[in-house]
Amino acid sequence: MTALPPLTLGVHTVTYPVMQGGMGIRISGANLAAAVANAGGVGIISAVGLGMNSPYFDIDEKSPKKRQEQFFEANRLALIDEIKKARTLSPQGVIGVNIMVAARDYETLASTAVDHGAKLIVSGAGLPLGLPGLTAHRPEVALVPIISSVRAAQVVCKKWQRTFNRLPDAFVVENPQAAGGHLGAKPEELDDPAIGPAAVIPALVKYLADTYDQPIPVIAAGGIYDHDTLVDALALGASGVQVGTRFIATEECDADPRYKEFHLQASPEDVVLVPSPVGLPGRALRNAFAERVIAGELPEAKHQCFANCLQVCKFRDKRETYCILRALDRACRGDVDNGLVFSGSHVGQGDHIVPVADVMRELVTG
Ligand SMILES: Cc1cc2nc3c(=O)[nH]c(=O)nc-3n(C[C@H](O)[C@H](O)[C@H](O)COP(=O)(O)O)c2cc1C
Repeated sequence: MTALPPLTLGVHTVTYPVMQGGMGIRISGANLAAAVANAGGVGIISAVGLGMNSPYFDIDEKSPKKRQEQFFEANRLALIDEIKKARTLSPQGVIGVNIMVAARDYETLASTAVDHGAKLIVSGAGLPLGLPGLTAHRPEVALVPIISSVRAAQVVCKKWQRTFNRLPDAFVVENPQAAGGHLGAKPEELDDPAIGPAAVIPALVKYLADTYDQPIPVIAAGGIYDHDTLVDALALGASGVQVGTRFIATEECDADPRYKEFHLQASPEDVVLVPSPVGLPGRALRNAFAERVIAGELPEAKHQCFANCLQVCKFRDKRETYCILRALDRACRGDVDNGLVFSGSHVGQGDHIVPVADVMRELVTG
């Protein structure tokens, strides 16, 4: 067993160098985030699509304009509810919100999160170049961009320093070769060792140490599921790890039990790459839905875009792929055949659903 250092993000420090990855829709809500925070890590609520199954939204609203307005307002109100609930479940915990830059209500969600007590904002699916401007009134909120290359980190640092006189409080480096969800690389690039953690993490740690006086921790994400993989990431120079998939088959994960069970039964051979309407590949579990999408079918041909939720969307603009809100929402409510079940490549590590505290113990002590 290796003694692990704590993880510090701006003014916030947690006992263990473990951050739970934001997982939408409603896979990481208040329950999971609070449980991870109570176990000594950083808990993250995913803000994506929270309004969808909230009392604030009616998908059958006839007026498209009213429906869109209602959806964005529902996302805002549901995010407030989720943060409140997490803070009640873990009053002292370090709990943040993950917001996708690609969301059309990104700015509203970022300011809502900080105004309601999020201690950090983690932001990917695009570079969060304007984020410090949205949170300037709460300088104690740590800001953590997700990137996949040193080049992207350089762009963020330079832009933030020039425009806001601020640097990120950490970077999450997402490994596209293993992480679940949207990937920051094209399928044909995935075998290139130059995009793997062994290349990117040491190079980024060196760049940040050589360039800036203040420490900027690097957090490795993708394919970390036990003590050995955590220690390997720290040995590359990372100050912490972000773990997604491993927290799904837990009692506190916010998804339907059928979703957790589907993950539990799966093995790495069941993991596939699925095109997504945002134009990036996604890593997910093979099911009827994924197979139809991979075959080029349009599984939701009968539906129209209902919320105009993304800056760029192939389903809305070209009638290609599928509506990602509907697909993720079906999955989290337990329809694991017809929903999109995101997953990292190292799925199926446990043999039954366990409390988050057990997963944390396994990560930090082996
Ligand atoms: C079900 C699922 C949903 C995810 N949703 C999001 C999300 O909404 N925003 C985001 O930035 N990353 C998302 N991710 C990526 C995770 O936050 C995390 O970085 C990734 O899962 C790490 O790799 P691992 O699954 O191998 O641990 C998701 C991953 C999964 C498995």
